[in-house]
Amino acid sequence: MKFPAPAGQRKEGDMERPQYDYAIVRDFVHWSIFWGIAAVLVGVLISFQLVAPKLNLAPWLSYGRLRPLHTNAGIFGWGIGSFFALFYYVTQRLCRTGIWSRKLARFQLWWFNATIAAAAVTLLLGYSQSKEYHELEWPLDIMIVVLWVVFSVNIVMTIVRRKEEQMYISLWYIMATLVGVAVLFIVNAAAVPVSLFKSYSAYAGTNDANVQWWFGHNAVAMVLTTPPLAIFYYFLPKSTGVPIYSHRLSIIAFWSLIFMYLWTGAHHLLWTPVPDWIQTLAMAFSLMLIAPSWGSVINGYLSMNGQWHQMRDNYLVKFLILGITFYGLQTLQGPLQAVRSFSAFIHYTEWVPGHVHMGTMGWVSMVLFAAIYYLTPKIYGREIYSEKLANLHFWLVLTGQLVYSVSMWIAGVMQASMWQAMNPDGSLTYSFVEVLSKLYPYWWVRGASGIIYLAGVAVFVYNLYMTAKNGRAVAEAAA
Ligand code: HEM
Ligand code: HEM
Repeated sequence: MKFPAPAGQRKEGDMERPQYDYAIVRDFVHWSIFWGIAAVLVGVLISFQLVAPKLNLAPWLSYGRLRPLHTNAGIFGWGIGSFFALFYYVTQRLCRTGIWSRKLARFQLWWFNATIAAAAVTLLLGYSQSKEYHELEWPLDIMIVVLWVVFSVNIVMTIVRRKEEQMYISLWYIMATLVGVAVLFIVNAAAVPVSLFKSYSAYAGTNDANVQWWFGHNAVAMVLTTPPLAIFYYFLPKSTGVPIYSHRLSIIAFWSLIFMYLWTGAHHLLWTPVPDWIQTLAMAFSLMLIAPSWGSVINGYLSMNGQWHQMRDNYLVKFLILGITFYGLQTLQGPLQAVRSFSAFIHYTEWVPGHVHMGTMGWVSMVLFAAIYYLTPKIYGREIYSEKLANLHFWLVLTGQLVYSVSMWIAGVMQASMWQAMNPDGSLTYSFVEVLSKLYPYWWVRGASGIIYLAGVAVFVYNLYMTAKNGRAVAEAAA
């Protein structure tokens, strides 16, 4: 299919108007959606594999290989792929200048796809460092470093050459993402290669665990929090047409969030041999994180003052406000999970995937859907094909996400209670297999929720396809 020329590039020769590169934004959007569909499809498949083991059709299609494929495609393919698109868009607009190097950005697009494709192949072949969210073996780590350096240089140089003196909050979150991911990744990647596809961590024992979860939780911070916040702060005012409630609050929340996140990783290691004081520190900082997280939630809500009617008739606002609401709930639930006594109850149970997917399917994906819809007139030069379908998409993904999380929370509480139940003589009331068998109905429900979510994603893709093909052309001034 031939795409119409992106709006920002149709004004060659107009010296007043910065020459924005929207073509690269569009191409990153397409590829991130491609990897997002892969992630959701594999998510649905692994959900059913847990209840119907026959679906483990071959060793390379077994749950153990597909689960990391799902998480990598979801977080890195869909998540980071969309952040590349949206960071390029937001940075150009906020700096009022075109991208520093279009060639470098184009190289980055293909390097990104090559990296994710190589990740998929090696994971299916069973190569893994066995570190969650850092499974890929060392040659792929090198590809990721190249990818990140190329991206960072292009964004930083665009910011350096900016025509706008003031740096809006989104740019702060973007820069934090660039620096944060680089530091976390390099430290956790330290390993000794013993062959082309095998390496051993440079750290040993509890140090290894501690570094891994310092990385793991800050991947939540620097990949699943700061980028969607950068996007939220930009696209909420753009969608409502009124400015953000408080720039000062956004800056205070930013610096306190960055300061606090880096100490919390060991909340994944409560009740382990990691030194007690490190666990307590992580617990305390996790609780403190409620304040900066809610600083942004409140800023978002207060920005809606006088605009709440837009929840009725603006589908972009629906996605964004539900997104920030899930972020608010996520950042209350997370700190509670970091409290030792509560962790002793829910750790290792289905409760945790419930938490995870409120963040990924709810917070992160909702904000991304809104931002991509907002971009359609810019990248296709056409109005959205159908607002009705966008609303249907909203209700399907909302229902899918809620059913997923709620069913897992109920399953998790039941599982934890059964594990802890004791007879008067001190023996366990239930065997492991008895508890497992009680989880089946909940896993069926999760599979069904995945199909609902997938249907929502299909409507989204159809709507974008029809927009590119048949949407009404936008007036040049609006672009
Ligand atoms: C104040 C903010 C947050 C805190 C303190 C927090 C805390 C926690 C804790 C304690 C766990 C471990 C649960 C366990 O295994 O016992 C966890 C897991 C997780 N959280 Fe959060 N959370 C927060 C926000 C978020 C957000 C916004 C996301 C975005 C999607 C998120 C994604 C995850 C993920 C992916 C895991 C699973 C990690 C694993 O593989 O074990 N969290 N969180
Ligand atoms: C239809 C949608 C989805 C379904 C059905 C689904 C299903 C699943 C399943 C079955 C697991 C394994 C849970 C376990 O270990 O017990 C999982 C884990 C995970 N998924 Fe999804 N998923 C979906 C969407 C997504 C998306 C869009 C993302 C990211 C953007 C994502 C990120 C993750 C992460 C980070 C984990 C690891 C959780 C943990 O370790 O606790 N998922 N998912």
